[in-house]
Amino acid sequence: MQIFSNIRQHHVAPGSYVATKRQNGILYSYLGTCVGVTLCDKKAEVEGLIHLLLPEPTSNDYTGKKEIYATTGMPLFLDTLYSMGAKKKELEATVAGGALVGPVTQEDLYLDIGGKTAEIVNTILRKNGIRINQSETGGYFSCKLILDLKTFTSSIEPISKTASSSERSTRKVDRSEIFHKIDHVRPIPQIALKIIRMIQEKDYNIPMIAREVKQDQIISAKVIKLCNSTFFGLKKKVDSIDRAMVILGEKLIMQVILSASFEPYFSCSEGGYSLCRGGLFQHALDTARAAEKLARFLKIATPDIAYTAGLIHDIGKVVLDQYLVAELPLFYRRTQIEGMDLCELERESFGITHAEVGGVLAEKWGLSDGLSDTILYHHQPERSTRNPKLTHVIYLADLIMSRFHLGKELEHINTDGLYSRLEKIGLTPSQVPAVIDSVSQEISKESSSIDRMDL
Ligand SMILES: [Fe+2]
Ligand SMILES: [Fe+2]
Repeated sequence: MQIFSNIRQHHVAPGSYVATKRQNGILYSYLGTCVGVTLCDKKAEVEGLIHLLLPEPTSNDYTGKKEIYATTGMPLFLDTLYSMGAKKKELEATVAGGALVGPVTQEDLYLDIGGKTAEIVNTILRKNGIRINQSETGGYFSCKLILDLKTFTSSIEPISKTASSSERSTRKVDRSEIFHKIDHVRPIPQIALKIIRMIQEKDYNIPMIAREVKQDQIISAKVIKLCNSTFFGLKKKVDSIDRAMVILGEKLIMQVILSASFEPYFSCSEGGYSLCRGGLFQHALDTARAAEKLARFLKIATPDIAYTAGLIHDIGKVVLDQYLVAELPLFYRRTQIEGMDLCELERESFGITHAEVGGVLAEKWGLSDGLSDTILYHHQPERSTRNPKLTHVIYLADLIMSRFHLGKELEHINTDGLYSRLEKIGLTPSQVPAVIDSVSQEISKESSSIDRMDL
């Protein structure tokens, strides 16, 4: 829980809440499958927002973070508001989220985790006699829940850059133009290539990597900045590569160097695929971390390789991003409102998907067949022949991040054949909530609830 003064705009991350007295500023959360609740007592001038991930803990002896679940988070949130002076009969609630998000299959409906979370929230509010002013849950769209802390006003905005079809760009993008652009993407940094090879050959030479990083001022500065970002949530300040190595340890420092090496590709994108600059990189980091946790949990892929694949799975978007900006209204209407599959639409508009562009880039950079295959098929993992298990891990990591850790990057993951995709990595549908649970807990344990877009 966090109580703030002088909030201007504060992002309430999944599995956390903020309770505060009236002040200037706003609280907000991006909600896909997650459920967000605002509660305000205007008389006592006490208010807050909670961002819940899941309906209830998957084991009875759960002792972790209560804010993740509706059954444990809601009572905690309410108690905090009461302790700050709020009264049950004065509280007013707004509930949002719990969506299915994107193209939905029967299997998705069965797994309707968001619907269950919203149901529990509503039951708890009703039992406590709390008035629900507005409730927009379910449906197929992601939204942003906003609480204006000065006026106690809650609002729910769809996350979309919508417009009519008349705003469609008239310039047709030529496939050869995209290939020309791919040819001009900067080469992969040597340091990243060396790390990837080390990881694949399980032959680590960290002192050599550290020496090279130290010689490169730009990459050194990026590594130190990333270490000190809230993404890695280190308690101690890092001011040198040597210090970073001591604090992070050998494996983690490699992940940071790798992430820092790829950051320039994502940061120069225009914001076509994401809601803001930096959104693509945030999604890359989140998916990398989720993939690493999944690989560890499922024991079917090397965690470091899963991290690498997660980090670069959407690298093709870097090339298509500028074209997408021109087609933006159409893209957002078709994917967010009509629920059309992103890859299908990319093929229709550009003749090529971001996954295919990523596959071409991976081959051009000389990445291994397994990594290229994973990037190429991360939206259709069953088509992977060279590394099917890793590809399924990346697919699931991407799905979890897009449904439960919605950030400023919007990607609707297709869930066709979800059950057989899960089966491929030894999971049954009934185990999915426990996996989401475990990965989310790991991630929220590491990340602070402060907006992580400050990289
Ligand atoms: Fe993708
Ligand atoms: Fe993705």
